[in-house]
Amino acid sequence: MSDDTAPVREYDLFTPEVMADPNAFLHRVRAESPLAWLPQFDGYLLTRHADISAALRDKRMESANMLRGLQRLTPEQQEELAPARRAIEMWMGHTVPADHVRFQQLLKRYFTPAMVDRLRPRVREFTHELLDAVAPKGQMDVVRDLAYPLPANVIAELLGMPVSDREQLQAWSRDILPVFGQGDFAQLRHAQDSMLEMHDYLRALAADRRRNPREDVLSTFMAAEAEGIVTEDEAIANCVLLLFAGHETTANLIANGLVLLFDNPGRLAELRANPDLMPSAVEEMLRCDGPAGVIGRFTTEPVELAGHTVPAGKYVFLALMAANRDPDVFADPDTFDITRQRNRHLSFGMGTYYCLGAALARMETDECLRILLDRCPDLAPGYETPAWLPSVPIGHRLESLPVTFG
Ligand code: HEM
Repeated sequence: MSDDTAPVREYDLFTPEVMADPNAFLHRVRAESPLAWLPQFDGYLLTRHADISAALRDKRMESANMLRGLQRLTPEQQEELAPARRAIEMWMGHTVPADHVRFQQLLKRYFTPAMVDRLRPRVREFTHELLDAVAPKGQMDVVRDLAYPLPANVIAELLGMPVSDREQLQAWSRDILPVFGQGDFAQLRHAQDSMLEMHDYLRALAADRRRNPREDVLSTFMAAEAEGIVTEDEAIANCVLLLFAGHETTANLIANGLVLLFDNPGRLAELRANPDLMPSAVEEMLRCDGPAGVIGRFTTEPVELAGHTVPAGKYVFLALMAANRDPDVFADPDTFDITRQRNRHLSFGMGTYYCLGAALARMETDECLRILLDRCPDLAPGYETPAWLPSVPIGHRLESLPVTFG
């Protein structure tokens, strides 16, 4: 148990210790300084499950947003990126609270258990299609050949894009990525070009859905537009947000989850013997190596965090990955236990901004890994050490994941 009266210590995130084992580093921070200061990021860091859960529910902690990346550019550069800025300002989570509730209520019409059931057979088909393509080779890069295209195909389906345009969606997704990280000006300008191209594409598709509604999210948006609930610009901007919210994240869960299984051959054997363990295995993958390792918040008023008063206008990083390994909540937090019960991980957030796609991501990962293990009894890692890339401000994602399957 760490101490609320501990002083707020400063930590350097660019050290070999952090790069080598971010989880061990976060255990140390949690014990030494439950509220920490990150000078390189001009923000605080929370690591305890209780503090992060409280922050996620606190209305004085607003969802910190992607516009932060634009704010560090020169005024001229910011001017050039004004169209991207205007679109991002319409994304749910980046709007004023009343608009956030409006978008959330609208999207809840679409993100239902029935939608997840409807997409399940498509997810199975996509997974088989992707595996069929690599089967003759007996090897693949899971990131490139399965984990990335699968959720992109699902989002293409969700948006109502024709099959022939699926690859285009993946290209846009790659281009727009710097908006979510520490992209430089040239990358952000390229991201803006792709974002505007995707807007034009979706505008044409939206025109069709007004006349011929289907069971896709664009049709839901167009029905809401007719009711005066959203504008076309808001609908289009939030379709781009959905691509982001649902693509990289789900892809990383599938790939990271597979590495966890390879690292724990006993658990992999248990899962092969009893595929009914898949739902709890997916929860444990989310806990041990969830894709959204750290999310951000801004304080709109002074807030008490881990025994300290943080003034208004401060940036606070919530290390969900540290909360998920807090020994006060999880027994043997560093053990990957696919039978873990009452797994209260925070990988989908909590409260106001709780992930709308959580059930969809769970289903995609469950179906994909089930089919992969079933079709590939000899599945084995084709690497010595996984090709991790560091994430900002802390954490990692896989660049590639070569495997063989006999
Ligand atoms: C493993 C996959 C995923 C993970 C780990 C994940 C994680 C998260 C997290 C942590 C948040 C909360 C952010 C915050 O509090 O600031 C969030 C929000 C959100 N997610 Fe996901 N997500 C995943 C997949 C998806 C999918 C597949 C979709 C939809 C296609 C989706 C749509 C959303 C949306 C729309 C929000 C914003 C909700 C709001 O502002 O009310 N996510 N996600």
